[in-house]
Amino acid sequence: MRKCVFPVGGLGTRFLPATKAMPKEMLPVVDRPLIQYAVEEARRAGIEEFIFVTGRGKAAIEDHFDRSWELETVLRERGRTEELAALRESLPTPGQVAYTRQQEPLGLGHAVWCARHLVGDEPFAVILADDLVLADTPCLGQMMSRHAALGGSGNMVAIIDVPRSQTRRYGILDVTADDGTLVSARGLVEKPAPEDAPSTVSIIGRYLLQPSVFRELDRQERGAGGEVQLTDAIARTLPDVPLHGLRFSGQRFDCGTQPGFLRATVAHALARPELKVHMQKILKDYGAPS
Ligand code: G1P
Repeated sequence: MRKCVFPVGGLGTRFLPATKAMPKEMLPVVDRPLIQYAVEEARRAGIEEFIFVTGRGKAAIEDHFDRSWELETVLRERGRTEELAALRESLPTPGQVAYTRQQEPLGLGHAVWCARHLVGDEPFAVILADDLVLADTPCLGQMMSRHAALGGSGNMVAIIDVPRSQTRRYGILDVTADDGTLVSARGLVEKPAPEDAPSTVSIIGRYLLQPSVFRELDRQERGAGGEVQLTDAIARTLPDVPLHGLRFSGQRFDCGTQPGFLRATVAHALARPELKVHMQKILKDYGAPS
């Protein structure tokens, strides 16, 4: 699998006013924006082409993955070689990145559909940058290995188990087999009410998809919340295209919510050798009074 789609057109209303003039994907966890974690995860998994589905007000993302000649010159003049190297490392090679715009906020399915010509007729990955995963082996890499081992011809999503009260926040799998790591599904439903949810096995923002999903998305059928849902399009390719869910190893943070974002910040600081003791001290200082 060579291509990964990053839908980054969302408004980020939960983080206003921070996201008034800045894309939510540029919110930093420690010292790098969410979108950079997503791109690094894809790159470490072997992805070679990065396709961003953007929208109005998202130009900072394009600038982030471009060279900044002024900044580089200043850093070089000041002998800041480490920072210079870090900047260079985060850059895709020329031609590896493509941008297209989702002109209307019609849902995740519509955003992915906007990338159809850039993806073409080959399997592709999707990463939602809001779902940050801290793992030794990148979540997408774990999925790609497992997907290849299964023959590579189906669809795969990353999954977590959630309390039944939270099913309304996720795409939920209708599970037929579950070996503890890999789940087979015969259906999936977008954001069902707890009493209607076929299980509590929930999709998080990592997908490996066959291009046949675009044929379903072409119908532009509206689903939950009046939006074109990726979940519905995947469901319609069943049973011809089998669907698996992978319980990846790693911690997932829902950076689309304040508590998830704060948790991600703490966990990522603790995972950085140079910051670990500082964060431990902060946690101690602000911990529950004994
Ligand atoms: C999207 C998908 C949903 C999935 C979720 C994971 O929902 O539609 O199926 O479970 O991402 O984060 P959103 O969070 O964009 O409402």
